[in-house]
Amino acid sequence: MTSTLPLAEFPNLSLEPARMPRHVAMVMDGNGRWANQRGLARCEGHRRGKDSVRAAVEAARELGIPYLTLFAFSTENWLRPGVEVRFLMQLLQRYLTTELKRMMKRGIRVVALGELERLPAPVRRALQQTIEATAENRAMTVALALSYGGRQEIVKTARRLTEAVAAGRIRPEQIDEPAFAGALATADIPDPDLLIRTSGEIRLSNFYLFQLAYTELYFTETLWPDFRERDLLAALEAYQARQRRFGALVENVAAAASLSAAN
Ligand code: FPP
Repeated sequence: MTSTLPLAEFPNLSLEPARMPRHVAMVMDGNGRWANQRGLARCEGHRRGKDSVRAAVEAARELGIPYLTLFAFSTENWLRPGVEVRFLMQLLQRYLTTELKRMMKRGIRVVALGELERLPAPVRRALQQTIEATAENRAMTVALALSYGGRQEIVKTARRLTEAVAAGRIRPEQIDEPAFAGALATADIPDPDLLIRTSGEIRLSNFYLFQLAYTELYFTETLWPDFRERDLLAALEAYQARQRRFGALVENVAAAASLSAAN
């Protein structure tokens, strides 16, 4: 594991490399409040939030975390003022083009999930280019949840499976938890071990509703634009201090964990 960079700067932290989460998911919240507190326009919070995205991605990569999901734009975010939506879309497009070199250098693969067809054409193009260029990278996968909603994903999946039943391609009894999970956009991504939400809000906001069933939840008061390596390390330390039971008793945790992973 190549964890020397961030960990060396925080000698008081005690992280066990063997117990790192495989998948960390992040709800990046608080950009607007960060800007308001400084008398700035909300978009300035988003702009600064882009730096936090880079910091989180690169720290996770250094720590050897194989999967990171960033909830970058929800289905509900389309309801924000047009000027803010346009700014967020431009920021995303710029992020995708300017970060590509750094991602290639670090072996980072980018995937995306959500109603991607709703994104403006230039963003879709930049996204497609980044996905294709990074497809063979293996060090870490960054999943961008864009125009994403957990309920929408579940409903869409249910509809696809129902259509498959109606067409006779599968039988109803073949739809079990692993089959359902395998039909979601996250089929190739393990369920998150840890969810981090910034800005003190304690809710899921329609994010990964199926996938978070046994995820450890971590909420921090830090506003997303202030989120840096130290905040990720603090979340990981809290995660490692937890005892995951997957609904089982302590003595049966291993069996319950493998059942959850199989799903
Ligand atoms: C929530 O803050 C954040 C968002 C709606 C967008 C997330 C976008 C970024 C972090 C910027 C860049 C992202 C990428 C992937 C380049 P909020 O506006 O809801 O904050 P508030 O709750 O304080 O108003």
